[in-house]
Amino acid sequence: MQRPRQMQRLLFLLLGQLLTFASCYTTPGPKHEQRPGGPSQEHWGYSDQDWREDYQKCDGKSQSPINVEISKTIVNKNLPKITLEGYSLPETTLLNLTNNGHTVQLSLPESMSISNTFPQKYLASQLHFHWGTESSPGAEHTVDGIRYVAEMHIVHYAAKYGSLRGAAQKADGLAVLAVLFQIGPNDNENYNHIFDKLEAISQEGDEVYIPGFDVNALLPHQLSRFFRYNGSLTTPPCFQTVTWTVFNDTVQLSKEQLHKLETSLKTGHHTLDSNFRFVQPLNGRNVLASFSSTLPSGRMVVKESAESGGDDKPGLELDEPNAFSNSSDGNQIALGDTLAIIFGILFGCTALIFVVYVLRQRKHQRLNTESGKKVIYKPTNTMEA
Ligand SMILES: *[C@@H]1O[C@H](CO)[C@@H](O)[C@H](O)[C@H]1NC(C)=O
Ligand SMILES: *[C@@H]1O[C@H](CO)[C@@H](O)[C@H](O)[C@H]1NC(C)=O
Ligand SMILES: [Zn+2]
Repeated sequence: MQRPRQMQRLLFLLLGQLLTFASCYTTPGPKHEQRPGGPSQEHWGYSDQDWREDYQKCDGKSQSPINVEISKTIVNKNLPKITLEGYSLPETTLLNLTNNGHTVQLSLPESMSISNTFPQKYLASQLHFHWGTESSPGAEHTVDGIRYVAEMHIVHYAAKYGSLRGAAQKADGLAVLAVLFQIGPNDNENYNHIFDKLEAISQEGDEVYIPGFDVNALLPHQLSRFFRYNGSLTTPPCFQTVTWTVFNDTVQLSKEQLHKLETSLKTGHHTLDSNFRFVQPLNGRNVLASFSSTLPSGRMVVKESAESGGDDKPGLELDEPNAFSNSSDGNQIALGDTLAIIFGILFGCTALIFVVYVLRQRKHQRLNTESGKKVIYKPTNTMEA
């Protein structure tokens, strides 16, 4: 009865040893990181956000996005309010909408601008979105650790530099407006100019032209409440040239609209989702608030999603370290742990056997030396039982 059991154990031990040696001899040289979609992929992506190697600036000290900690913001009620000009576009202006593999981007004409807000005028260039998956939120900036479901960036460049390209590397080159989204009970019709076209640009590189519309309608009602800080592009090349304005007032989208954003586009053969960068260290930077952190005046603080019923996806979720992962990851971790324990035990046994072996060899050696004979190490396959 004992025999088969012992045989089994011996087999496991041998297997363990085999694996131990195999793993020792098959991993020489430097470690190469495997990127999804091919080893020598030139394009950056969101699954591996270690962009420093290819884009030095991404390692800078003033990177974006950040977590805005409201209690640590510096209230400055004298910050000029955001004044937008030319945001209401005529239908005759055709706007390019494209899936560039990282986001959906709407090009904007330079007739749109931010004026009387900063020491200089900023012209609009494009707007785009960042989002998560159906089960996890995907805004880039977090507020008090809360990640909202999605985020829109309206990118502007300083007029004096003539173009986005010309301004992108200048210290005061860019101004980006950031809008955070929450889930609301109704479709936000203003966004259908864009969202209705997502299916038409599902493949990376696809583009369509859409008639101009009132871009003001994409913004929150309250533009006077915002956070302001100096940061960077949240995508490579991560230039640290952005004056950020993150609105405190959010915009609501319906679950269906958000779902469309999260599932319509592809990057390569995969769904384009979770295209947000992780929050970056503040490194002593100041974050200004245009308002004091008391309750918003004259605004309802009723949580609408709680009343709409059956909402399985809250408007906001806590930013947990594994906000990325889906539920099956828990099982994977458990399996990984189990494997680690098994291999740990196997390794321990191997080590023990090795020690015993060495001790025996030493004994032999001593005996051999004492008798004045030459020591010959034999291959270990003659393990004495
Ligand atoms: C951003 O940088 C500029 C130039 O250094 C500085 O004048 C301004 O105060 C900074 N803004 C914030 C919010 O720290
Ligand atoms: C807006 O400000 C209020 C009051 O400080 C705060 O509770 C809330 O989290 C803020 N939300 C956003 C999206 O900034
Ligand atoms: Zn962005």
